[in-house]
Amino acid sequence: MAVQQAVELGDLAERLETARSIFVLTGSGISAESGLPTFRGIGGLWRTHRVEELASPAGFERDPQLVWTWYNERRRAHLGVEPSAAHVALARIEQRAADFTLATQNVDSLHLRAGSRNVLELHGKLREAKCTRCDARRPFDATFDPDAIDHDCGGMWRPDIVWFGEALPRDVLEAAFAAASRADLMLVIGTSGIVQPAASLATKRNTRAYVVEINPEETALTEQVDRSIRARASDVLPQLVA
Ligand code: OAD
Repeated sequence: MAVQQAVELGDLAERLETARSIFVLTGSGISAESGLPTFRGIGGLWRTHRVEELASPAGFERDPQLVWTWYNERRRAHLGVEPSAAHVALARIEQRAADFTLATQNVDSLHLRAGSRNVLELHGKLREAKCTRCDARRPFDATFDPDAIDHDCGGMWRPDIVWFGEALPRDVLEAAFAAASRADLMLVIGTSGIVQPAASLATKRNTRAYVVEINPEETALTEQVDRSIRARASDVLPQLVA
């Protein structure tokens, strides 16, 4: 049986209780706890797959079937895992908070499945497909046939994911910056902090915010946060709501 080590959390639980506005930024590290790979760590997706082939508009134009095959595998992987104790703890924190926003870079829907409500999906969502030409969207579920991707308007169905070189959905990003700028407590969990503009949410903030990073490793954001807790998300977050 794994022995869970208690992490010294100091006054963080109290800060959570008293915060008037909480902003959380998550990355793939929180879903590593559910068994999904991160992007840049050992076994990370971008270590074994070519970003430009699988996650760019040009790659999709060149070989849409290859791209769909890959995202189909990833979607299956998402459906095959459960939200972790860390995802669940964030949903509990939201229930108790006066003002709570969770911006995630993850496309796996695990925060929503864990019960989080005010979720901003910065990099899109793999549970939907969208048309390359018009505004049409549809669920990317069992009814979706990745071999039949032509849309009636002449466009093609593609995953509703933000690819390299593409802009983030403007309304989502604006809502995230607004939430970050009114927060007095910010949690940055499981992200290397190197992909922009998402990472800047944790740094271009109001001066009041107390920023806590939860990550077993040092990151690009470490020098700019007020406190780094070097632990896994599930070693910290469940303790905070216990
Ligand atoms: P990365 O792979 O860059 O970073 C994952 C981070 O999670 C690392 O800092 C790890 O140390 C940390 N980590 C691993 N296990 C953890 C755990 N149990 N608890 C807490 N932290 C843990 O992934 P992201 O930062 O999510 O974009 O990458 C950002 C974006 O780059 C992704 O959204 C994706 C990718 O290209 C798009 O696809 C648009």
